[in-house]
Formats: sequence, structure tokens, C-alpha cells
Amino acid sequence: MPKIHFEKPFTQQEAIPESAIAEAVKVLQSGRLHRYNLVPGEAGEANQLEVEYAKYQGSKYCLATTSGGTAMQIALRAVGAKAGDKILTNAFTLAPVPGAVAAVGGEPIFVETTEDLTIDLKDLEAKFSETGSKILLLSHMRGHIAPMEELCAIAEKHGAVIIEDCAHTMGAEWNGRKSGNFGAIGCFSTQTYKHMNSGEGGFLTTDDADLMAKATILSGSYMLYEKHLARPDMSDYAQARYEMPNCSSRMDNLRASILRPQLKQLDHNIDRWNSRYQVLESAFKNTDGLTVRERPQNEKYVGSSIQFLIPDWPQDKIETFVKNCFDRGVELKWFGNANPVGFTSRYDSWTYAPKQSLDQTVAILKRIMDMRIPLSFSEEDCALIGTIIDEEFTALND
Ligand SMILES: Cc1ncc(COP(=O)(O)O)c(C=O)c1O
Repeated sequence: MPKIHFEKPFTQQEAIPESAIAEAVKVLQSGRLHRYNLVPGEAGEANQLEVEYAKYQGSKYCLATTSGGTAMQIALRAVGAKAGDKILTNAFTLAPVPGAVAAVGGEPIFVETTEDLTIDLKDLEAKFSETGSKILLLSHMRGHIAPMEELCAIAEKHGAVIIEDCAHTMGAEWNGRKSGNFGAIGCFSTQTYKHMNSGEGGFLTTDDADLMAKATILSGSYMLYEKHLARPDMSDYAQARYEMPNCSSRMDNLRASILRPQLKQLDHNIDRWNSRYQVLESAFKNTDGLTVRERPQNEKYVGSSIQFLIPDWPQDKIETFVKNCFDRGVELKWFGNANPVGFTSRYDSWTYAPKQSLDQTVAILKRIMDMRIPLSFSEEDCALIGTIIDEEFTALND
């Protein structure tokens, strides 16, 4: 019997909703794409999006940016990161995270990863003590949230500020509190492969008036910050307006206009992601030899991607498995590859960071298989993918 083959592309997102396209056309027709280009009495798409996202997030303030990466760079500068500062971050994350540290002249110091794919709290404590770092850029990588109360207590003990990278946890919660609301600042991405799609884009949220004022000036407000609607009092800008450099990272009205209708659908889409995730999760749980993280009760996750651990196979066998799945249309990302390829990369390939060795993370990365779950896949598609992975894994797992 011929082997079944999966035909859909793993990088194909759903179309932008018609309602969003209609709003985008209006902005295009107006010609007023720049966020501060408003006529008297006009609130503006970017300003309104910020109000709506702050409400969704349950934060006081929100700033829309050009990307998740620029949101993190601004956040780091706002909390006072300076050239030469050691900044702790996850060893298992993606390149824009250490990239943001490097962009402000900081030195990324990587913290080990647990089998739950979260930051290792023991190593976090050790790295705070060893380095004296006062900033943690915490990445909720692939949507896995660490025990946040414990993590925050460790940071507090060391007098460190937390910035959360929520690129993969927009809409996710830990113990009923949204990810992004634990640290001083939450950073989000609306890049095409994330939970809302504006091509490129991002948000920064906070409850801290001073940080928000600094972030707004940093984003490049040309002293027009009064126009923002999800902002603190004008008096909060008194110092920031002179002290903060303009790092031009503003979201424009066009992107904001296509995000506003998507925000209304976000919670519904989270349910859709999770039903697809659960089909894959049960397929992997039924495959002998594969490990899928037991999602903690405290976590409300967004299953926009799924990870499973394979046994500690030799590299050539892992590559054969990935290739055999690929030949049947299933694209797995392997984080163990020393050579960074297509969206994966490993901490030791970021050679701008000081040389570090994290044996525990290397051993775990070697076993992680990662897969995106675009909403263009149906639950039936996910069942088919589960079958293909099961067959290819089982054929090699003697
Ligand atoms: C873990 C993580 N953090 C942050 C980002 C930054 O997002 P952006 O591409 O919007 O800069 C990404 C993007 O892929 C990411 O995967």
C-alpha cells in the first residue's frame, strides 16, 4: 500500500479576515498611514488598537511597535539596560531574544532549560548570584510557561526586573493571570507566524507609567505622545522626553487596522489552536517512545505549535527521521542541529554572546522536535500528521 502523504504547507496562515481587509482599504484610501497623521477629532487605528489590546491584556498601558524584537529592545532600554550589562535569558529561545540584548549592547547570559522546555529555576538562581545581573528577559518559548510565582520570587530576591517575551503566549495565562503581566513589561509579536498577523508588528504592555512614558519616546513619538490613548498622564513624560533616544519603531495605521478585527477573534482562534493541538498531543502520547509535556493545570496555553521529545538517538538517525517525515510532507524543526537553519537556532550559534556551555540544554535540544500548527490545518489534517509521525518514528525506534 502506498504511504499516505500530507499535502498542505506548514507556513500557510489563514487569510486576513474580510472585515480587516475592509478596514485596511479605508486607511489606504485616507493616505494617513503614519500613526500621528490624524485629522482633528480622529482617534487613529494605532491608538485605538493600543486601547483595545491593553483591555484584552488587562494592563494599564500599551504601545504598538514594528515588531516583537523592537518591543523587547525598547523594553530593555526603558528598564535601564546599558552597554556591557549582563542580561539573563533562556538558552532555548529564538534569535530575536538574544538579538534584543545585543541591540542594546548587553551581554546575553543563557539559563539552562528543563525537560518541560521552560527556564531552569535552579540555574536561574545560580546565574543571578554568579553574574549579579539585574535584568531577566524571560522567553515563554513555544508557549511553555515556567512556574511564575517561584520565578518572580527569585528575581525579586536578586533585585532584578523581568521583561517577558510573550511572542508565543499572546492570550496564554498562568494561574489565571495573563502572560506578560508578571514582569515589569510584556512584549508581544504580531508577525505572520504568531497569534495575530500583520506581517510584522508587536506590542509592549506595562502598568508602570514611567516605563510606558520612556517606551513611547523610545519608539519615536516625535513629541506627539499626547495623541496616544493607552498612555499615562502627560506629566509622566516630563523627564523621559529629554532623556530617551528616538529608536523609530512605531506601528503604522495600516497594520493596526488589520489587527483590530483580528483581536476580536483571538480567543476563538485560541480554542481552534487548542483543539488541533489536542489531536496531535493524543497521537504523540499513543506513540511508544515519544514524550509530550504534560501541560500543567495552572497554565492556559495556546497550542499554536507542539513539541515532542525523541529518545537520545545518534544524529544520523535523527536526521533520517526528520527527512522521512519531510518526504511525506511533515515539516519538523529539530533544535539540536548545531548549524542554524530555517527558524531554529541554538544558543552556541550566537557567537556575539560570551562563550558559554549549557550541557543540560544541549542534551534537551538534541531531543526536541517542534512543529507549527497553522490554523489552515483542520483537526483531520492533524490526525493525519500524527499518523505519519507515528509510522516514521516507530519504523526507526527499535
Ligand atoms: C521566541 C520569540 N521571541 C520573540 C520573537 C520576535 O518577534 P518578531 O519577529 O516580531 O521580532 C520571535 C519571533 O519569531 C520569537 O520566536
